[in-house]
Amino acid sequence: MSGGLPPALNLPPQSWRFAAPIPAFPRQSRGKVRKDVRSFPHLRWGKVGMGAAVRNTPEMSPTPRIPTAGFGLGLRPAHYEAIVADPPAIDWFEVLTENYLVPGGRPMHWLDTIRRDYPMVMHGVSLSIGGTDPLDREYLQQVKALARRVEPLWISDHLCWTGTGGTNLHDLLPLPFTESALEHIAARVVQVQDILDRRILLENVSSYVSFSGSEYTEWDFVAALARRADCLILLDINNVHVSAFNHGFDAKAYIDAMPADRVQQIHLAGHSHSGDWIVDTHDAPVADPVWALYEYATQRLGPVATMIERDDRIPPLADLVAELDRARHIAASVRYRSAA
Ligand SMILES: [Fe+2]
Repeated sequence: MSGGLPPALNLPPQSWRFAAPIPAFPRQSRGKVRKDVRSFPHLRWGKVGMGAAVRNTPEMSPTPRIPTAGFGLGLRPAHYEAIVADPPAIDWFEVLTENYLVPGGRPMHWLDTIRRDYPMVMHGVSLSIGGTDPLDREYLQQVKALARRVEPLWISDHLCWTGTGGTNLHDLLPLPFTESALEHIAARVVQVQDILDRRILLENVSSYVSFSGSEYTEWDFVAALARRADCLILLDINNVHVSAFNHGFDAKAYIDAMPADRVQQIHLAGHSHSGDWIVDTHDAPVADPVWALYEYATQRLGPVATMIERDDRIPPLADLVAELDRARHIAASVRYRSAA
């Protein structure tokens, strides 16, 4: 760890296990940003997480999920100045990996500045873990270099493919849910985790078409992959809702199938509903059915780190903080009812 930053978490795959229970959701804070990780009890690895870690002892918990929750926002250039001028009371930011792969320049200046006050997680779009082109090792080394600089709590990308034959299609494309795809992707995840020296999170994407040859449901495929590759899950609740509507499956069945010990993070986002289709546009507030599914997921999965993902028609930072507070409130309410 360097220079007063909140701590890094570099988990070699399959080498760390946590005996500590997952901490409760923090209560909502409306104060100024806390400048030091000591103010983030759920992120204090030395006391809550890493201090309770044991390395491959017989009594270790099989739970690979890093025991933290908290509520974050996606870091967007439109908010750089607002964050520095009046730091919001949130727990972490998620940064888009590809925006910071070129060293130097204004984006890196803002990244370094904001990182001094907030833990961060890294979220990529270029891994193409489901593709058949060889893994892009140069890209992975760039990701690793950025991780050395940012010291993220975790690194995520998407369960999809993004191109073929060396051509990047710049879209998150759906997979056939077959045994051969599962085997292919699991082997690639293991390679990526070896290169990055940590477990990665893979996010379920929204989809509009499916493969007739699929042998698994999407939810069973995601769960099987997480277990087989020993990776973690970034569960996008909006994507579950979007795909459930578009394909006509039960969104709650998807949630029920998730291995709770591997869901490390949740995304919430808005979408566009045409009547016949829902498109995952990330340009609107979270819709009511997605909030309801989030409540169900929180009840089912326990406390999971949650963020609002907004990529278009980006509102003032305060609006997103207020939306995030709604997630905080729902999670706290669910926990209260569960404990009653
Ligand atoms: Fe997402």
